[in-house]
Amino acid sequence: MDLEEKRVLKSAITAVGSYTPDTILSNHKLEQMVDTNDEWIQSRTGIKERRILADKDKATSYLAIQAAQDLISKKNLDPSTIDLVLLATITPDVHVAATAAYVASSLGATNAFAYDLNAACSGFLYGMSVASAYISSGRYKKVLLIGADKMSSIVDYTDRTTCIIFGDGGGAVLFEPSPNQYGWEDEYFRSDGTDRMSLRIKAGGSLYPTTQETLDQGWHNIHQDGKTVFKYAVSEMAHVAEEIMNRNQLNPDTLDYLVPHQANKRIIDATAKRLNLKEEKVLMNIEYYGNTTAATLPLLLNDYETKFKKGDKLVFTAFGGGFTWGAAYLTWAY
Ligand code: UT7
Repeated sequence: MDLEEKRVLKSAITAVGSYTPDTILSNHKLEQMVDTNDEWIQSRTGIKERRILADKDKATSYLAIQAAQDLISKKNLDPSTIDLVLLATITPDVHVAATAAYVASSLGATNAFAYDLNAACSGFLYGMSVASAYISSGRYKKVLLIGADKMSSIVDYTDRTTCIIFGDGGGAVLFEPSPNQYGWEDEYFRSDGTDRMSLRIKAGGSLYPTTQETLDQGWHNIHQDGKTVFKYAVSEMAHVAEEIMNRNQLNPDTLDYLVPHQANKRIIDATAKRLNLKEEKVLMNIEYYGNTTAATLPLLLNDYETKFKKGDKLVFTAFGGGFTWGAAYLTWAY
């Protein structure tokens, strides 16, 4: 492949959008629900509040559609020109019908095919690689990648170790052939399934189909062994981010922004410290949204979009259930 061909096939993010519901679940409100307090939550996680999709009739598709519509109107995009709608989520509307198909139809993406992608908190990161690869192959011209999760639908609000962490939200990005030399540069992805029960919804799948017992045991809610997940996340997020920086000759001065999954401020701080990054280079909004799973990365991109300049060097990193984790390097194209 000659250099000119490579340039043409480079993929880039060309638009972003997001949506978070209006209802705020603050630490103070949680104090009335479980045995916890604002001081503990803020010092252990960095979270002050999270957004909740309170309307019982609205599901993850609603978050996804709102986020995509935000992108579509900002970009003035004709939805019928979208080739593919990818939805990263662990909270699909229903188990079997791909939520992405409903989202695509609702958006008027009448010429697109659509499917869901599940890699827990790494879903959006992996989804960027998939979207980018479809563009780079020359097969499609417009891939809409959405990360959305209605975490409140799987959280047990009597379990103080999980209900303080998660929130609802959605974000979207458009991948297209790069208009310049900037875009997707590199990725380093890993997974390890040996500890899969450390972060899980145990029942409702083929291993533990729904029974009265699984319902009684609360196995349909999300549970985690927080300490194990924390330990892995701290060491592995830093490891992959360091690897991707080294192999792309990036250093703390030349890197513009670290875009880390928002699971716990202490995990992000530890990662940034290991990479020797100044605070202003580390994007964070966990304070306001908590952990929105597949939505954390696109929510960050949308919140910081106006700060980015063409050519800025961004390193993404995420860690989630599976375990799944990784880092990616992207240069901002607009
Ligand atoms: O996106 C990827 C998925 N998730 C993550 O990355 C999360 C990773 N894990 C974490 O963020 C942290 O482990 C948690 C925030 C979940 C917990 O923080 P921790 O510092 O690991 O707390 P801990 O589990 O070690 O618990 C310390 C103490 C315990 O009390 P004792 O045994 O020392 O008396 C807990 O019972 O804090 C207690 N505790 C709480 N206290 C007040 C646990 N949850 C709460 C709470 N409020 N909400």
